[in-house]
Order: sequence, then structure tokens, then C-alpha cells
Amino acid sequence: MKMKILGGAVAVAAIGAGIWAWTTLDTSRNAVADDTVRLADFTSTDAKAVKRGEYVMRAADCSACHTKGNGEFAGGYEMPTPFGTLVSSNITTDVDSGIGAMTERDFFDAVRHGQGSKGLLYPAMPYTAYAKLTDQDMHDLWAFMSTVEPVAHKIDETAGMPFPFNIRLAMLGWDMLFFQNKGFEATASDEVLKRGEYLVEGAGHCSACHTPRNALGAEIASQHLEGSRVGAWFAPEITGNAHLGLGASGADEVAAYLGTGTDGKAMATGPMAEAVEHSLQYLTEDDRLAMAAYLKSLPGSGATAPEPMTGLERGALAYEVNCSACHGTAGEGMGLLAPAFAGNHGILADDVTNLAHVMLKGARAAATDVTPTSAGMPSFAWKMDDRQIADVLDYIRNSWGNAAAPVRAEDIGALRGELDAGAPLR
Ligand code: HEC
Ligand code: HEC
Ligand code: HEC
Repeated sequence: MKMKILGGAVAVAAIGAGIWAWTTLDTSRNAVADDTVRLADFTSTDAKAVKRGEYVMRAADCSACHTKGNGEFAGGYEMPTPFGTLVSSNITTDVDSGIGAMTERDFFDAVRHGQGSKGLLYPAMPYTAYAKLTDQDMHDLWAFMSTVEPVAHKIDETAGMPFPFNIRLAMLGWDMLFFQNKGFEATASDEVLKRGEYLVEGAGHCSACHTPRNALGAEIASQHLEGSRVGAWFAPEITGNAHLGLGASGADEVAAYLGTGTDGKAMATGPMAEAVEHSLQYLTEDDRLAMAAYLKSLPGSGATAPEPMTGLERGALAYEVNCSACHGTAGEGMGLLAPAFAGNHGILADDVTNLAHVMLKGARAAATDVTPTSAGMPSFAWKMDDRQIADVLDYIRNSWGNAAAPVRAEDIGALRGELDAGAPLR
């Protein structure tokens, strides 16, 4: 039923959009790109451009989404969307199954405007953010892509999408409604903040996970970077808000988290650990500091701390028995081995998906050059029921200066089902 309503909305949007189509699909900006030589026939002689392009690729994390066991950039990575499961394209230089037949201009059209070789792209490919990439970065990225070895691997991107969502033309309406087809315009005047804004809002596509989306999968601009559910994870607020965001952390601490997955308190898990491993650890420290400074400059949600909960004895006891050996008797953590809870704003959001996920399935922190052996959190699904997990989370979210809303046992139960984590042993 929900699918039908969505389908209708998409179809109506698509028809209504027709007349305005040319405004959203305007790619005249890409006239700066060559339209004669195919990627398969192009070899860059500019080693510096290739190197810079590799850096853009890292900052944009192209490889993470376009790689899955068939060679780097050969595609096949599955992405859940409100319209069904989408599979990422082969973007190697192969002519038949990759993008070898694209010219530079075609490549710009796909990456910055969401117009691919089979028609309009779905916004799971973050062209909505990449639209902000500069011409120079795009030229460099093109030079880098020309060095990628061809891999023959045919992909049917929309095979897992039901009618009517598999009709690419419907994205015309989506683009018209939600795609700000504009190049980068800094809101900050300071050079460092400008660089940070460019990286966060452009290549970094941080809002793809950290901004909540509406029913049609578009980011809600008024809640930019204020935290969102991402599948069975929660990407917290990363603005300057001092309660839930990064306001109480130094820019150097945030930069350390981006580079290593930990600032000494929080530790990146799940999709954020992947972003650190595949992308952010390769950036320069100056770029990470610029991103941190920009994030901290955003006002954010205005969330404030509630009164801390009382009556947490059950959770306190469970914590002492099961958790304190790693997380510390005063929630101080164990350096690079286990996160601290005291002063860790990442655990305070109303949405506890992330914490519950880690409790139910265990977790592994990011492995980087700085932290090569990543730390492990055991699963408690077999040992604790939903109420017990809620109790111990209430305890860590309301001790050592922390304050947060009560955790609902029903939410733990729902995620236990979603993750197929199994019932506790009796
Ligand atoms: C968050 C995941 C994600 C990231 C990051 C990502 N892509 Fe994609 N990309 C996709 C998906 C999914 C598709 C298929 C979309 C479709 O078919 O509608 C796609 C499609 C494409 C296409 C279109 C291929 C064609 O034949 O039309 C190109 C080109 C492309 N991506 C290049 C890139 C480059 C370059 C980067 C980095 C700057 C990048 N992508 C980063 C998910 C991603
Ligand atoms: C694929 C989804 C995804 C993308 C893309 C992503 N994040 Fe995250 N991020 C998460 C999740 C999930 C968490 C929570 C991880 C945890 O607590 O273990 C997180 C946590 C964080 C934190 C820690 C917040 C805290 O309060 O401790 C920071 C800082 C952060 N992300 C910054 C960024 C920046 C900057 C970018 C863009 C360069 C980015 N993220 C892109 C999913 C993502
Ligand atoms: C053997 C050591 C160990 C024990 C015991 C342990 N943890 Fe963990 N915990 C970790 C490590 C390591 C991480 C970081 C994992 C990661 O980032 O992927 C972690 C992460 C977490 C997180 C996620 C924090 C964040 O920033 O997202 C929560 C919540 C958590 N643990 C709660 C608990 C609770 C509650 C207990 C007791 C019931 C417990 N842990 C017991 C090692 C442990």
C-alpha cells in the first residue's frame, strides 16, 4: 500500500515536472569538458592531475560504493532505497559493461547532474552533492578514472526495483522537486571554513547519511546534518550543537575521529567506520581540520540536555558486571581499545538504533594506519533481554554528566527482529 502511494506520487511528480525539465537537466556548465574522446581511448599524460584526481576520488569515496568483489570500480554494490534495491554501476574503463564509452562531458553529466548512460540516475548515487565539485576537480577525477583497468562485469542497476520505480524517467520529477542543480557557492567567508564546506557538502556527501530524508528519499534541508537513521544504524547530529553535535569537542578532536575513527572517546562503527577506512583517513590533516571547523560553525538543531534520569540501579549493576572491564568503572573507556561514555555526545540522541545495534550484534571499530588492529565489542543479544539492554543504555546515557531521554524496550525488540539477532538464552 505504501509503495502504491509513493508510486503515484512519483508518477504525478514526473508528469508535472515535464514542462520544467530543462531547468533541472541543464548541463551547460559541463561544456568545459571534452566531448570527442572516449574514456577507453584517453590516457592522461599529466601525472600530477592523476594524483590530484585520486585524492578527489578518496574524498568522494567513489570506490566504496562501486566495488564489490569483482575488482575495484567494477560495481555490483547493493543499496536499499525507498524505491527498492539499486545496484551500483561498473565505472571501470571497459567499453561494454563499464563507462569506457563515455566522453569527459558524459562523465561530468553523470557525476554532477545524475544523467547516466542508461538515462537519469537514482539519487543513491550522490550527484546531488557532487554537483558542487569544481571543474578542476572533475577534470582531475576524469584523468584518474582513465588509469583504472577495464573489468568486464555487466550490471543491471534496476533489476531489483519493482514497477513503477524502475522507470528512470520518474527521476525527472524527483530532480525537479529536490535537486539543487548548482555549483559550489560558499556561505562562509573564512578560507578554512570555505574549504571545509566544499569538502563536507561536495565530495564528502556527509549529508547523504547525516541528514534525515522525506518519504521520497530527499534530504530535509531544514534539518541539515542534524542526524538520521541509515538502515540499521543512526548517524548522529554533526553540527555545532553542544548537546548532540560537535559543539563541546575541539576541532582537533573531530579531525582525529575523521582520520582514525576515534577521538579518544567515541569510536566509529558500521558505515562511519567504512567512511574512515575508505575515504577520510586518506585526506590531509589540514583538510580534516577544515571539515571539523566548518561542521562546528553550523548552528544545528538547538537540542538541549534533559534532566538526567534517576532510578538506574538495575542498569548500574548490569554495567558493572558486563561492561566496566572495557568501558571503565567511570565510563572513561580504554584509549584506543574501547570508547568512553563520559563526555561522548554520540550516545545521547533520542534515536538509539546505533547503540542497540552494537549491543545486539557486537561491532568492530575502524582499522586505519594509526589503529591497525581494530577493537571489538561483543554481542549481548544472547545474554540480555530487551528491557535489560534498555536499562543498561539508560544508565550509560545518564551517568558521568550525561543526560538523555529514556530508551524504550520496544525499540530494542524491533531492531532485534530487524537484525535477526536471536532471543536471549534462558
Ligand atoms: C553512496 C554510493 C555511491 C557513491 C559514493 C558513488 N556512487 Fe556512482 N553510482 C552509485 C549508484 C547506486 C549508481 C547507479 C545509479 C543508477 O543506475 O541510477 C551509480 C552510478 C554512477 C555512474 C553512472 C554510470 C552509467 O553508466 O551511467 C557514474 C559515472 C558514477 N556512478 C561515478 C561515480 C564517481 C566518479 C563517484 C565518486 C566521485 C561515485 N560514482 C560515487 C553509487 C555511488
Ligand atoms: C554511509 C553513511 C555515513 C556517511 C557518508 C558519513 N557518516 Fe558520519 N557517521 C555515520 C554513522 C552511522 C555514525 C555513528 C557511528 C558511531 O557512533 O559509531 C557517524 C558518526 C560521525 C561522527 C561522530 C559523531 C559523534 O557525535 O561522535 C562524525 C564527526 C561524523 N560522522 C562525521 C562525518 C563527516 C564529516 C562525513 C562526511 C565526510 C560523514 N560523517 C559521512 C554515518 C555516515
Ligand atoms: C571486551 C570489551 C567490551 C565489553 C565487555 C563491552 N564493550 Fe562496548 N564496546 C567495546 C568496543 C571495542 C567498542 C567500539 C566498537 C566499535 O566502535 O565498533 C564498543 C562500543 C560500544 C558502544 C557504541 C558506542 C558508540 O560510540 O557508538 C556501546 C553503546 C557499548 N559499547 C556499550 C556496551 C555495554 C552497555 C556493555 C556491557 C553490557 C559493553 N559495551 C561491553 C568493547 C566492549
